[in-house]
Amino acid sequence: MARSAGVEQEIARLRRELERHEHLYYVLDRPEITDAEYDARMARLRELEAQHPELVTPDSPTQRVGGKPREGFVRVPHTSSMLSLDNAYNEGELADFDRRVRELTGLDQVDYVAELKLDGLSMAVHYQDGRLTRAITRGDGQVGEDVTDNARTIRSVPLHLPAAAPAGLVEARGEVILARSEFERVNHEREEQNLPQFANPRNAAAGALRVLEPRITASRRLLFYAYQWLLDGRSAGERHWDALQTLADLGFKVNPHRRLCPGLGGALEFIHEWEEKRHAQAYETDGVVIKVNELALQQRLGWTAKAPRWAIAYKYAAQQAVTTVLDIDVQVGRTGTLTPVAHLDPVQVGGVTVSRATLHNEDEIARLALEIGDQVLIERSGDVIPKVVRVEKPGAERRPFVMPSECPVCGTRVVRQPGEVAWRCVNTDCPARLKESILHFTARRVMNIDGLGDVMVNQLVDRGLVRSVSDLYSLTQEQLLPLDRMGDKLATKLLHNIDASRRASLDRILSGLGIPMVGERTAAILARHFGSLDRLMAASAEELERAEEVGPRVAESIHSFFAEPRNQDLIERLRKAGLQFEQEMKRAGGELDGMTFVLTGTLSGLSREEATERIEAAGGKVTGSVSKKTRYVVAGADAGSKLDKARQLGVEVIDEAELRRLLGP
Ligand code: IVH
Repeated sequence: MARSAGVEQEIARLRRELERHEHLYYVLDRPEITDAEYDARMARLRELEAQHPELVTPDSPTQRVGGKPREGFVRVPHTSSMLSLDNAYNEGELADFDRRVRELTGLDQVDYVAELKLDGLSMAVHYQDGRLTRAITRGDGQVGEDVTDNARTIRSVPLHLPAAAPAGLVEARGEVILARSEFERVNHEREEQNLPQFANPRNAAAGALRVLEPRITASRRLLFYAYQWLLDGRSAGERHWDALQTLADLGFKVNPHRRLCPGLGGALEFIHEWEEKRHAQAYETDGVVIKVNELALQQRLGWTAKAPRWAIAYKYAAQQAVTTVLDIDVQVGRTGTLTPVAHLDPVQVGGVTVSRATLHNEDEIARLALEIGDQVLIERSGDVIPKVVRVEKPGAERRPFVMPSECPVCGTRVVRQPGEVAWRCVNTDCPARLKESILHFTARRVMNIDGLGDVMVNQLVDRGLVRSVSDLYSLTQEQLLPLDRMGDKLATKLLHNIDASRRASLDRILSGLGIPMVGERTAAILARHFGSLDRLMAASAEELERAEEVGPRVAESIHSFFAEPRNQDLIERLRKAGLQFEQEMKRAGGELDGMTFVLTGTLSGLSREEATERIEAAGGKVTGSVSKKTRYVVAGADAGSKLDKARQLGVEVIDEAELRRLLGP
């Protein structure tokens, strides 16, 4: 296609904008535009690059995803050794470290930098002339694996550095991690695929980085936090504290939880402060790293064969406890998977009472050699369901757990396919599966039908009122009223919420259908790519694979889901119920056209998602931070710093009632 003069400029402008918004979103956690706006720019850039392939550059934001699957990893040497750290498990060992440092340097007091120790795997990324050239796992510290294609898919790894970056080989070393929520999502997805679960976020992160297909890495949403910068293989700068700032200036994500401490005392305080706080973080932190701040001192201290003498990793004690397995029962999930769960003698672990632990599947029980009555070591991390680490002492009167040969809920036989780890109930009408699928369909992030918890769903299914999620749409007040814990008001509200869900967007419907391997994110991609459910259903596996992040296995799963007559019936019933199968395009000329809103504090009548959806539906947009461009700040209860910022900038502040007035009926 002939190139018009404006094309190159538009491409350059789109790249600049996309890079800026990626940095705001993935590095600073401070987005200024909505995902849809970001996607629209990305789509435009892809379109232009497809028309003008000669203008594609390797550091274009479009090039993060798309590397080809590989045969294996190439081993490449590090610029200088990438060693590990010595550990300290108590304050005595930290005091020893501090004493050694002071003796070797001859100083009375040494400045340290304390940083959270993120639990992932370390990686080095290289930039030559400002462009990302290579990413290497730590490997044995001398030689690692070349994971460049995979690292490119990590949005917090810049594809190039700012123009002001130093010349030569610039290197950032840091930790690749997976947020807890993402870890759970991945495990959930694997459960549906009957794949073994990852034991912790670190293993899941390692699995995602060291996989041969970059597309899989891309779908795992890894994060890269940088903590060391090197020039031509040598630590650069004069102080570590400043180096961290330099990394941030270069566009890397640097953990904000760090402190410059004059002497060990401050570092100990930091450790104490984070002992509890770390559990509320989105990612796992297993300790605190303490480093000598002055690089000249670091050099004087040097290295042992294994680790630097200028740094130490303080490890928090694991959140573990010993208790007895009283019984093991089996839960049936949405896809019919039978999951054994241990009932424990309740025990305190890190301030929380734990009475259940997941055992994942039959193989896991065999691996642990666990029987009912055994004493076990359990471990909890964050809000993840606790797990059994090992058997501490076999019970005196132990009895083996036997996987039932029939579904504990409906009595249908269970099967285990060759090569799969899980047993499944084969009855597609199993009430347990139905209940789970209703709970999934109505969940807040899916169809957002408030008022349907366990208790209600059990009654609806047990009384035969709901045999499929589509039956929700024909429920009546008369049917609801006789239920336990139901009143007039609640019934009206529930019916209203069900009715409102008829207007849910296509991506929510898609994730509600429970297509194996299609979670929220894939659903959003599919909705955008195909624009309507009918087009999606008609797509061949090959056409499906053209959607971003959809590989052969996912495509196959979607294809066979829609080929199933039962599922086709369900979709017809949902269509008759009045659900929207077209992806709603943004309404132009809406009441709030072009207005930018910032939401702060807790709104009472609307959830944040609802408010955002309604503002966007009316043509407005919602951003995360207040600027002069903000038209309104909507302040709910306990509004914080954004309110102050609004006042400072003279941005109009409105309350929820005013927002509703603006939104109209
Ligand atoms: S400094 C020579 N800083 O913990 C410098 N490491 O147990 C070595 N880690 O291999 C690394 N957070 O994978 C450093 N803020 C942090 C870290 C960190 C996590 C990991 C890293 C290292 C391991 C040592």
